[in-house]
Amino acid sequence: MNDKIIVANWKMNPQTKKEAEILFNDISSNIKAVKNKNIIICPPYPFLFISSKIKNKKIILGAQNVSKFASGSHTGEISPKMLADFGVKFVIVGHSECRNLGEADKIINEKIINLLKNKLSVILCVGEKDRDHDGKYLSFVEKQLKNCLAEVSKYQLKNIIIAYEPVWAIGKDAVREATAEEFVEMKIFIKKVISDIYDMKVAHGVKVIYGGSVNSSNAQAFIGVGEADGLLVGRDSLNAKKFVAIINSLN
Ligand code: PGA
Repeated sequence: MNDKIIVANWKMNPQTKKEAEILFNDISSNIKAVKNKNIIICPPYPFLFISSKIKNKKIILGAQNVSKFASGSHTGEISPKMLADFGVKFVIVGHSECRNLGEADKIINEKIINLLKNKLSVILCVGEKDRDHDGKYLSFVEKQLKNCLAEVSKYQLKNIIIAYEPVWAIGKDAVREATAEEFVEMKIFIKKVISDIYDMKVAHGVKVIYGGSVNSSNAQAFIGVGEADGLLVGRDSLNAKKFVAIINSLN
């Protein structure tokens, strides 16, 4: 997959299936002519069914999370097999909003292992809460990567996309937007860590995307200057016009 990857993370939105259907439809009908981009839409679980109603080969279905268990007595949990059966191809794990609710690296690692067993691709989110002058944020991200990728082989890594999402740049309470230069620094660092865990060839091939307050004014900088392999979009993926504007802003 050499095309740019644009992920829509709808989070816990919208509130009704009617709204979800409209959003899905509006995005779908406006991206028919889009080239060299893979659009992955991650609606909340109850709205996954909509993709089967609105068929568009340009849209790849994603999920926002998964259980660490494969099946059984786990109330409220959703298994990788259930997602795969719904046509889901990618699953986000390790999002900072899930980590905030107590999802530890070990759990994320178990989820990744289970997803890969079920032939699902992974979007692994990493990112520091804040930045410091001593570079502690780098070792923070390094630890996240090493813990979350434990026991993942270099062959399996081909099915994992790393999403760098600095927590301080996410959501409406973001401290500020990240710059493309800050992304470049982190992308190089992530590749160095991947090279330490695996080897240089693997590090060269791994895809690193950017997420955090992406909009149509800053998207191209992350892709152009930052050489990001793609983008993960939260708020601006909830408005078809804004989301399509992001996609169209990319060269
Ligand atoms: P945002 O969210 O685009 O609203 O900042 C990004 C994310 O959390 O994935």
